[in-house]
Amino acid sequence: MAFIFWTDAYSSKVEEVDNQHKFLIQIIDDLYLAFQKGEQKIIQSDLLFRLINYVHYHFAYEEGLMMQYKYHELDKHKIEHQRLTVKVLDYYKDVKIKDKDISLELLNFLKDWLSDHILKTDKEMGAWLSEQPQFVTNKMP
Ligand SMILES: [Fe+2]
Ligand SMILES: [Fe+2]
Repeated sequence: MAFIFWTDAYSSKVEEVDNQHKFLIQIIDDLYLAFQKGEQKIIQSDLLFRLINYVHYHFAYEEGLMMQYKYHELDKHKIEHQRLTVKVLDYYKDVKIKDKDISLELLNFLKDWLSDHILKTDKEMGAWLSEQPQFVTNKMP
């Protein structure tokens, strides 16, 4: 049984956003698998780094779309992104500098944060975007 997996309930009505969410979910699930196998070195050298890079890319993508279409909830949405970015970067520093192992607590936090954020904040964004008459592209603005 996967730790976290994609279901249609996560669908935001914006295909590219959904594809990126699927990828994020996969990274978190890979992190959990590696954690279960005790592969802390792989987590430290590769998976956490991959997560941070992809989170950064994904948030920039969503924020670009919201800016392009002048979404009224942009600021609120950005604050949620920033809070997670700070938390993940702090954790990454702990792992890199203090050589801490990844914990189940962090994995649960990531899982809960991502599903809550997608189910509420991203879905609201996607519903709004998909209703804009000029919204025609899923490409990077
Ligand atoms: Fe978001
Ligand atoms: Fe998102």
